[in-house]
Amino acid sequence: MQDVTDLPFMRVIHHYGDPDYYFTEYFRVHPHSRLEKHILRSINEHGTGRPVFAQMIGESIPELVHTARELARHPVAGIDLNMGCPAPKIYKKNCGGGLLRDPSKIDRVLGALRESVTGRLTVKMRIGFDTTDTFAPILELIDKHDIDLLNLHARTVKQGYRGEAHYAFVKQAVDTLRCPVLANGNILSSRRALRVAAETGCSGLMVGRHAIRNPWIFRQIRQSFAGEPVFRPTFADARAYIDRLYHATRTGDCPERVHVNKMKKYLNFLGQAVDPEGRFLYDMRRARTEKDLFDVCDRHLMQTPRAPFPDEPHNGVIARPNCEGPAPQGGGGASGMSPVSGSSVPGLVPGT
Ligand SMILES: Cc1cc2nc3c(=O)[nH]c(=O)nc-3n(C[C@H](O)[C@H](O)[C@H](O)COP(=O)(O)O)c2cc1C
Repeated sequence: MQDVTDLPFMRVIHHYGDPDYYFTEYFRVHPHSRLEKHILRSINEHGTGRPVFAQMIGESIPELVHTARELARHPVAGIDLNMGCPAPKIYKKNCGGGLLRDPSKIDRVLGALRESVTGRLTVKMRIGFDTTDTFAPILELIDKHDIDLLNLHARTVKQGYRGEAHYAFVKQAVDTLRCPVLANGNILSSRRALRVAAETGCSGLMVGRHAIRNPWIFRQIRQSFAGEPVFRPTFADARAYIDRLYHATRTGDCPERVHVNKMKKYLNFLGQAVDPEGRFLYDMRRARTEKDLFDVCDRHLMQTPRAPFPDEPHNGVIARPNCEGPAPQGGGGASGMSPVSGSSVPGLVPGT
């Protein structure tokens, strides 16, 4: 995740229990792009012992091919192409999720990359741009170009991060493709992971935001699949995680105020599990200094240090109101959501 899964964050996750493999933030590919040094560090210096896939985002075929070759000189488990980013400034350039509007372009991009990448070539995508009409044709292209793994975020680009993920599309991909499929989108907890794996037959799960809220999630999922008792952190554990994150992600020259603001990006997610009224989030967002921030954390998390820290967010407590809050009128919805035909699914309220 952009600005999140950097080297310091990977090291924090390593402490609590690694996923089976990591995907980097995306490398931006454009006419004069060079591999971003800080992302390269997460490939070369992570020390987790787990494979790391390098993700890139772009639309120019020669430049994507060039970047893939450059990346292959580093110890990557594979090269991943982002076809899902919903940020308008990205998709308007036909990069990320924008590519989903043009299957013929995807055909050319994947063809060229498949010819030049000798190792694993993987794709991260969504189920469509604003409808799911291109989903089945794009799955055919994934198969045609021998993609080694598909990470499927089961929302459209226009849905952003709002509303439910539509796992029936993951099942459709599993049933159609020869390669393994990872289910992504709202894998909130080990319970949800088990349910989605059973429902879809996916080969694995990709977890994004919920690992920021709950860094124990990979360990918990592994325990659930093994039928072992699942580790339950306490509020005191969550408080210690905040400390670890604060110190691990602070660089020497970063002013306190700037770092406190960076911490708020992580705490927006963690705060979803602290209290059902969102009081922690309210107070935390107003902190200006390190002392303010830690005082708020102590006040909200250390009243009942031994109480279990919830493994799912409280209903209605929103991490990023602009991204996960209710859709603005007339925008952010999704239509045409049936996995096979593209007609609409009863009961799905667009953009909720
Ligand atoms: C802050 C942030 C940054 C993200 N950056 C990337 C990215 O660089 N590449 C990518 O494939 N997905 C990115 N995503 C999307 C996530 O990988 C994931 O698909 C999405 O959040 C849904 O999964 P989740 O419900 O487990 O978070 C990002 C998500 C967030 C919240």
